[in-house]
Amino acid sequence: MKITVIGAGNVGATTAQRVADRELAHECVIVDIAEGIPQGKGLDMFEAMPVEGSDTRIIGTNGYEETANSDIVIMTAGLARKPGMSRDDLLAKNAQIVESCVKAAYEKSPNAYFIIVSNPLDVMTHVALKATGLPRNRVLGMAGVLDSARYRTFIAMELNVSVEDINAFVLGGHGDSMVPLPRFTTVAGIPISELMPQERIDAIVDRTRKGGIEIVNHLKTGSAYYAPSASAVEMAQAIIRDKRRILPCAVALEGEYGLNDVVVGVPIKIGKNGMEEIIEIELSDEEREALHNSANLVKEQIEKIS
Ligand code: NAI
Ligand code: 2OP
Repeated sequence: MKITVIGAGNVGATTAQRVADRELAHECVIVDIAEGIPQGKGLDMFEAMPVEGSDTRIIGTNGYEETANSDIVIMTAGLARKPGMSRDDLLAKNAQIVESCVKAAYEKSPNAYFIIVSNPLDVMTHVALKATGLPRNRVLGMAGVLDSARYRTFIAMELNVSVEDINAFVLGGHGDSMVPLPRFTTVAGIPISELMPQERIDAIVDRTRKGGIEIVNHLKTGSAYYAPSASAVEMAQAIIRDKRRILPCAVALEGEYGLNDVVVGVPIKIGKNGMEEIIEIELSDEEREALHNSANLVKEQIEKIS
């Protein structure tokens, strides 16, 4: 197995470190445009391997030559919004970055599965799909695993129970319009509504929707990366080990959930063929409306860059 991580920033470097610590690949290549950064971080990580007991070989580079024949490419490169830059400017700039990086990686690794992390996530996954022309099972966006992990953490904190016992997922786009689903949330099989009052569930849902900005407000100079990298690696591991996990991932919909021509988060079966199945669950009218509203916001952004 060979994994390429594009972007040696906070998310990219932590992703590569998790890949290496878990020995998920025999080789992990980190690519970034910043000279010296992927080389330095890569070598530093490689030097940790004798201590970690992992034989993953880590290489940092500014080009794509070394990425050839990767099995999985995890795309984390992108810009953060700068003063004077509108959201739409950022959207256009990151779309250019994702398009060029993913194309360059695809040329060297035509059999790879792509996991997109760069924001705005759903739109960037759409850009990666168009840039490569790959079928939808091979280009997946990471957001639902992260949003669900945050939701599960907040429930575990509220009930003072193990995070392991919380089963829950979040649908929709990665943003304020995401759709956590309390109706499908259980703690060791017990519906959450049996364990806490509605107002606490509502507060947790609200906190989940604002989970990204909560971290930004603490850090002030960047956004989250520990939980995002863990989530991207969870998806990579499901593919590499053919786990057939059911995870919420951003995928292109072709009629599922009554949605077409849009990338949005839904539960999928993820294994050695990437997205192997979209799991369609019966939603209430309210849940369906929330999912469609979220998908429409993604569509508006896709139209802006088309
Ligand atoms: P960062 O600023 O720490 O790292 C970004 C890296 O991308 C930098 O090292 C930069 O040099 C590199 N880069 C920029 N243009 C490039 C290009 N053309 N080729 C190669 N490398 C290039 O940012 P961080 O925290 O690592 O976040 C990365 C992206 O992931 C952002 O777009 C962020 O919003 C997104 N993100 C998405 C999450 C999700 O749930 N989908 C969660 C967390 C972050
Ligand atoms: C997050 O949710 C910034 O999308 C990123 O933390």
